[in-house]
Amino acid sequence: MKGIILAGGTGTRLLPLTAVLTKQLLPVYDRPMIFYPLNTLVKAGIKDILIIVAPEYSGSYLNLLGSLLRPFGIGLSFMVQKEPRGLADAFILGEDFMDDEAVTMILGDNILEDDFSEAIQTFEKGGRIFAKQVTDPERFGVVEFDSQNNKVISIEEKPTVPKSDFAIPGLYIFDNRVCKIAKQLKPSERGEIEIVDLFKAYLASDELDVRIMQGAFFDAGTIDALLEVSNYVKNNNFNTKFHPDIEKALEAYKTEYKRIASIQAKSKRSIDLMS
Ligand code: DAU
Repeated sequence: MKGIILAGGTGTRLLPLTAVLTKQLLPVYDRPMIFYPLNTLVKAGIKDILIIVAPEYSGSYLNLLGSLLRPFGIGLSFMVQKEPRGLADAFILGEDFMDDEAVTMILGDNILEDDFSEAIQTFEKGGRIFAKQVTDPERFGVVEFDSQNNKVISIEEKPTVPKSDFAIPGLYIFDNRVCKIAKQLKPSERGEIEIVDLFKAYLASDELDVRIMQGAFFDAGTIDALLEVSNYVKNNNFNTKFHPDIEKALEAYKTEYKRIASIQAKSKRSIDLMS
């Protein structure tokens, strides 16, 4: 199983914050947002992860994450998405990276509390997505079930009048056929190749498995949601429950950063003394 984090896009709903920094590097309590989806994949045992980023911020991602997890046997690769063509574009850009394997794709602005190890490790074929009851389904992809809650009736992207309050969070597991299906998609009215069209393709051949998500789900794509998720992380000590490899890597990063800063300060002092 490979992993993809989709972390490009424009982040216009978070302006002016995103005028200076890409959305997925903004702070969520004590760490950049990208660490949350990264943690979700690492916790599930995924060791090979592609991070798709917008061109302007590729250097920032490399600086922060470049070789951060290499000591723990976790490989991070990077790819630039020149323009935001839609979520399904991740599987076109990621085709070579996926090789012949299945993939778990997570959105760079989704903060999910559950441990997806079982769902990911038991995955064999088709598509597997999740559903979570929310109070504002019109912000999301929405799935409607039959009265027994086990058969999917419809799937819609951000419907004005949602047929249910089950949102589809941004974690998707697909077999390798997803690349071929993504390449056949036509852009929607808003000009994007839509993730829901991939779900519909798997649903049409009865190969879409939808599971209920138990833990908290945040899409940190608005100012209020960004604040809400930071408060949730603090109040529930979410930041203390990261995978140990990520914690160790973050500590090593901070130590190295401070070491370099102190060398720079010393050399500046000696230049000042000489002048
Ligand atoms: O949060 C879950 C929701 O995410 C789902 O319920 C929706 O079905 C799904 O479309 C998505 O909706 P959003 O409105 O939140 O999508 P957004 O445009 O914010 O993009 C999600 C992430 O993907 C965000 O981190 C930016 C990134 N992105 C987006 C696009 C369209 C890219 O990297 N490239 C893109 O082309």
